[in-house]
Amino acid sequence: MTTPEMERFRTGAAKYAAYLETFEGRLRLDLAAPNLLEFLPRETSLRVLDLGCGTGAMAVRLAKLGQHVTCLDSSEEMLSFAQQASEHAGVSARIKLQPGNVTAIGELFRAHSFDLILCHNILEYVDDPGTVLRAASSLLSESDGLISIVVRNQAGEALKAAIRDGDLEAAERNLVSEWGDESLYGGKVRLFTPDTVRRLLLESSLAPVADRGIRIVADYLPPTSAGKREYDRVFEFERKLGKRPEFTAVARYSHWLARRTSPISEEVG
Ligand SMILES: C[S@@+](CC[C@H](N)C(=O)[O-])C[C@H]1O[C@@H](n2cnc3c(N)ncnc32)[C@H](O)[C@@H]1O
Repeated sequence: MTTPEMERFRTGAAKYAAYLETFEGRLRLDLAAPNLLEFLPRETSLRVLDLGCGTGAMAVRLAKLGQHVTCLDSSEEMLSFAQQASEHAGVSARIKLQPGNVTAIGELFRAHSFDLILCHNILEYVDDPGTVLRAASSLLSESDGLISIVVRNQAGEALKAAIRDGDLEAAERNLVSEWGDESLYGGKVRLFTPDTVRRLLLESSLAPVADRGIRIVADYLPPTSAGKREYDRVFEFERKLGKRPEFTAVARYSHWLARRTSPISEEVG
């Protein structure tokens, strides 16, 4: 079944690819990458599953490091971008593209068949993030399986509405709302609080090993400011802020890294 959330990406892959080239789009990826690499063993070839891989930007980075990545996405258009990116980078032999719905991963893959699973900006678009996370957890290898989750942060949406848009009504709404406005495609996007993520992890037998903030000040720099013109400087500053809880709390995105704790009672699939 195609939901409106899936439909917006099916027909909007080019728009998404263009967004990833913007200052904000680049930063989200560039900040998530080192957060993740910090927790990966060196010189080991991992079996990676990228859920809602989009244009394959993170998958290609991992494949360049020698990882074998299965890219799952419901949008053929996104997968076609991912294919081009993997060919362009010369890593197509290490990337497998798989069309499919994340809600069916329990049937698509064998239990414990991945060392690393990426859930980067996908849980915002599914009906039941908890079910997807539990299924993902059951696919993780029992020895040290790692999951990497990037989600929209509710507090960050409140700040964005107030600081960037000057829209205090939306800011008030976002302070408590489970849904925010999607600026790229229109429609709604699910917002997460740290408490929600912690609960979802616990229910999926996943224990957090780190939580980081992504894009804390970058979205609010005036377009004319020196910072906005100096990508590397903003990146380095964001790296520092993103590791400090007082700033992480208000980031646009929360990045959680978690490991499987014990077998979940009811394995999916
Ligand atoms: C916001 S994009 C994120 C892409 C990528 N993970 C990234 O971080 O750049 C969300 C992606 O999830 C995919 N998607 C949305 N709902 C899905 C579903 N139910 N099953 C599989 N993919 C889905 C979309 O097609 C889109 O490529």
